[in-house]
Amino acid sequence: MSFLAPRGSLMLDVIFLAMLLVVPVLLWSIWQVRVRQKFSLHRQVQLLLAVVLMGTVLAFEIDIQFFTDWKEEAAASPYYCDDSWNAVWTALSVHLSFAVPTLVIWIVVVLRAVRGFEKPPSPGKHSASHKRWGRIAVVGMTGTAVTGWIFYWMAFVATKS
Ligand code: HEM
Repeated sequence: MSFLAPRGSLMLDVIFLAMLLVVPVLLWSIWQVRVRQKFSLHRQVQLLLAVVLMGTVLAFEIDIQFFTDWKEEAAASPYYCDDSWNAVWTALSVHLSFAVPTLVIWIVVVLRAVRGFEKPPSPGKHSASHKRWGRIAVVGMTGTAVTGWIFYWMAFVATKS
């Protein structure tokens, strides 16, 4: 049962809302390091975001594998049909092409940052690589959120008239 959309599940709603929080917090954390040079604050916020994101991915997988048949929930969408390729599948494919690489890049960026920077963190030998991959991770996460919201709306909000 969804509390936000006509269809879906509680967990899908939680993920939808979590991403609404993650993107602005992520941009704020980048601003803190870029403009205000608050390296330790950036580290703490990024580690917290990593925990929130891992929890979200885990909760989503448990829900989709064991509790919610998303295709059944999407059946009333005008963009979905059971027997052929449809716009909901396209939206899901675009979303996954952001989400899967972003998850891998995210884990690698965090692990390398924790190992590569001093404690407390400050610019150093790892900076150039971290900035490059950090920016790719930010673009990937923003794309994951936006394409996820589009998929959510098409599958669980839009309704056949
Ligand atoms: C996936 C998580 C992370 C992302 C997406 C990320 C993203 C970024 C980005 C985009 C920048 C460059 C900002 C600019 O344009 O100047 C940056 C800088 C920095 N980050 Fe991260 N970061 C993450 C995790 C971490 C962690 C865990 C640490 C500490 C252990 C850290 C330490 C730093 C430091 C010290 C800088 C400044 C580098 C410099 O200016 O030379 N970051 N981060």
